Parts: sequence; structure tokens; C-alpha cells
Amino acid sequence: MVRNVTDTPLPPLTQIPADLRSLADYERRAPAHLAPEVWQHIQEGSGTEQTLRANREVFPRLAFRPRAMADLRGGHSAIALFGRRHAAPLMLAPLAYQRLAHPDGELAAVRAAAALDTGMIVSTLSSVRLEEIAAAAHAFARELGKQAPPLWFQLYLQPEREHSLALLHRAEAAGYEAIVLTIDAAIKPSGMALPPGVVAANLAGMPQARQTATPGGHILLGTPLADRAPRWEDLAWLREETRLPILIKGMVLGEDAARAVDMGADGLIVSNHGGRVLDGLPSALDVIEELAETTEGRVPLLIDGGFRSGTDIVKALALGASSVLIGRPQMHALAVAGMPGMAHALHLLRAELEAAMAQLGCATVAEIAREKLIDRR
Ligand code: FNR
Repeated sequence: MVRNVTDTPLPPLTQIPADLRSLADYERRAPAHLAPEVWQHIQEGSGTEQTLRANREVFPRLAFRPRAMADLRGGHSAIALFGRRHAAPLMLAPLAYQRLAHPDGELAAVRAAAALDTGMIVSTLSSVRLEEIAAAAHAFARELGKQAPPLWFQLYLQPEREHSLALLHRAEAAGYEAIVLTIDAAIKPSGMALPPGVVAANLAGMPQARQTATPGGHILLGTPLADRAPRWEDLAWLREETRLPILIKGMVLGEDAARAVDMGADGLIVSNHGGRVLDGLPSALDVIEELAETTEGRVPLLIDGGFRSGTDIVKALALGASSVLIGRPQMHALAVAGMPGMAHALHLLRAELEAAMAQLGCATVAEIAREKLIDRR
């Protein structure tokens, strides 16, 4: 859909048109529903966007080896993580400021997650308070007569530990079931000024280090931003402060992964932050096997970056991922059609995933093994 940049963005659709049949369709339509600077902020990668491209270019290099006439009776794509059922190996990645994409922001996202039994990782930088998001999940799940979906809280360490601790305690009190410590984005120039009405709702009353982060072109080393970046001792501290499972997001090196697990991390999220931090990192799919080797199956490995279809997800599962996080497509679906758009996008992904599983001869996620792939990397 082409739109002149001077046009005002189209309002979100209230019904899903029949020509929206994939996440790619949502991505094509999304710019018409967003201000140009918001669209750019969502889509961009860092530097020359090598990592952003690597995240997509890896998929065609992995091809499938399907098994003929397998017995698919009783099949399903559900998995268990930290004692909870997930309808599919699929979660919503933490994304800052979802109200940039739709006025309901995180509330629309979490209602879609509840409708589709999909876990959501709520960002420290959510534009709705974490308590309100959890309450909306529970209220909507009750209305639908089901259990609320797994909700995890993504923590950005704050300049003062008391503020990190306050966030942790609020997340625990609101019923979040795991803490995701993102370690890769502290030293990152941050650009876009937020439009009126979109705020870091959880950080009211706290010094907002990230929002005043320096734009590109500034020296970061020696500034408070770099001085306060997460260190290993912060993980040791966090481990002491909570009994919830801790996942580290932004792991790319096998040695670091083993160290994190030794220090008590309960899971790792293999991620290059959607190509938004260090340009030149490999795709997460290219490093997940190294992490699987050094961590020896001691903790679940989740992954994100560039996942846009069911077959993409199957490839990660075959390489050892327990579940896959979806980032930007959330913003595309929210911009195009709010909660119904998001629910539809999640449904499409699950349907594609299950179709791919069936065609490969896998009745359950546990059957998706390395031997299902021809590696042409
Ligand atoms: C992010 N990401 C992110 N990660 C995080 O831990 N906390 C956050 O607040 C955010 N915010 C955020 C905003 C936007 C607009 C984007 C695009 C990304 C990273 C995100 O969780 C995830 O790692 C990537 O988005 C995954 O890649 P794809 O699916 O977007 O290609």
C-alpha cells in the first residue's frame, strides 16, 4: 500500500480484510497506519543494517527434509516452559512503547495474547503500567473462560538499584511469572522523540536514563550510560533478590551463556535485539547451536530476530530452540488492526507452524529435530 508521506496515518481497521493472510501482508500494510518517523523507528536496524539483514538471510539457507506418511494422530504444537502450558512455541517479545502503534498499545497486545494462549514479555518501557497490563490479561481471560497467559517482565536495570528493585517487586506482586534481564541494549544511542501521550509508564517518578540517552554521533564510553551498563555482579545481585525464573536476553556467545547458567540463570534468549544494537553480529540462528553445546541442555534456549512465518519457527526449533519470540510483527499487526490484528497474526503463525509440522511428519514439537534440516549455510 503506497501512501504519500504528507498524508495522515489511516486509523486502525476494525475488521480484518481477506487479503491479510500472512505477517508479510501486515508488514506491507502497516506504514499506511503509522507516522513515517514511527515506522522508521520500528523497522530500523543499527549501522549499515548487516545484522538486520542477516536475521532474514539465514532462513533460506536452511531447507527441510520431510518424513513421508508419518502418524500425525493426536498431534499438537503446545509446549511447557517453567511449568506452564504455552499453546505454541511462540511468545510476544518485549517491545517498548506499543502505544506508538495503536492507542490501546500493550492492552491490545495482552488481550490478543490471552485469546490465543500465548505468553507475553512486557517491557520495562511499556507505555501502559505493568499492573494494568496484567489486570487486563486476567480480566479478558476470565471473560473468555480460560486461564491468563504466561506473563513475564523484561527488566532494564535502572541507574539506581532501588529503582530496579521496585520494578522487580511490582512485577512479582502483579503476578509476572519470570524476569527477563535484557543485557544488550544499555549502550545504545536512542533516537526518536516520543509523541505526546506515549510515556515510559512504569518509570514515572524515576530518573529516566534511557529516555535521555544520547542520539547517534555522541561518544558513549565514559558517560553515565556506559558506566551503568549491566555487569555480571548485577546478575548475581538479581539472583539473590528473586525466586522467579530469570532469563537473560541478548546472549550470543557460548562461553557467556555457560557463565550465566552457572550463576543461576534459568533460561537464555539468544538475540541480537532485532539487529538494533551491535551491527555485524551474526543471526541468532547462527549461534544457537554453540550456546546449546556450552549449556548442555541445562536451561531452555529461546530465540528471536527476523521470525515471520511458521516455517521460520520450525527451523529454530530444529536447531534447539524451545520457543521463538516475535518482535516487530506485533507493531505491524497493532498498527493495522489493533487487538484483532494481533490475535489474527498470532493465529496465522500457529496455523503455519502446525501445517509445517504436519508436512514434515512431526506430530509434536518434541519431534522437530536437527535431522529435519539440510544445512546450506
Ligand atoms: C525492541 N526490542 C526490545 N527488547 C527488550 O528487551 N526491551 C525493549 O523494550 C525492546 N524494545 C524494542 C522496541 C522495538 C520497536 C523493537 C523493534 C525491538 C527487541 C525485541 O524484544 C526483539 O529482540 C526483536 O524485536 C526481535 O526481532 P524482530 O522479531 O523484530 O525481527
